[in-house]
Amino acid sequence: MQKQAPIHIGIIMDGNGRWACYRNMARTQGHLEGLKTAKRIVKASSDRGIPFLTLYAFSTENWKRTAEEVNFIMGLIRQHLLAQMDFYRENQIRLRFAGSLSSLSKDIADVIHEALSITASFSKMQVILAINYGGRDEIIRAANRLISVGLPITEETINKNLDNPDVPDPDLIIRTAGEYRTSNFLLWEAAYAEYYISDKLWPDFLEEDFDAALSAFQKRIRRFGGLKDEQNH
Ligand code: FPP
Repeated sequence: MQKQAPIHIGIIMDGNGRWACYRNMARTQGHLEGLKTAKRIVKASSDRGIPFLTLYAFSTENWKRTAEEVNFIMGLIRQHLLAQMDFYRENQIRLRFAGSLSSLSKDIADVIHEALSITASFSKMQVILAINYGGRDEIIRAANRLISVGLPITEETINKNLDNPDVPDPDLIIRTAGEYRTSNFLLWEAAYAEYYISDKLWPDFLEEDFDAALSAFQKRIRRFGGLKDEQNH
């Protein structure tokens, strides 16, 4: 039985829109509630000593949504980063970024830069915000960097040219809202991640649901393509 806690958890925070629709509210209200859940689960992860948490806040495909929704999500992220630095300081959480920062608008990119710099020395936990992130895009950017410096494309050189090469691969990926899809999240890094799907919509996802995911992870037997220990002779 797998007893260890995950070192790195990734979360696909799905179901904000449905949460709002079921209540006859605008989809944006779902994102507002979703942000509260994100903060709750960051705190829960920190309290449980999880060293790395990646939150899929905005994908490279999310630009297909209406301008109103896109602007609302960007504004929400910006406001959160402007208002919550005390929370990250109190909990000693370092913020990191995954995705394509250069194609975000300057007002959001500046606030992200500032948040990364303010929290750079905090060392209890790292939260990686995946914004304008796509797994394919990340691999393409890594490959292009290698081509531009004339290095061969190998597993090692790609690893070293991902957005956060020092962050270990995710052990556990949680997706909410009952969807069984990877949706372009950490495609390279999740090669051996365990997946956990919760039927809860993201705004309804509580600490106890997070704990259920951690318990399920501990029951998984991870072989990384090899054999179980007892079969290894
Ligand atoms: C997916 O639900 C959710 C998103 C695309 C946006 C999530 C972003 C936040 C909650 C902000 C997070 C910010 C920080 C700083 C952590 P959906 O709209 O796809 O839901 P649906 O499938 O029910 O429509």
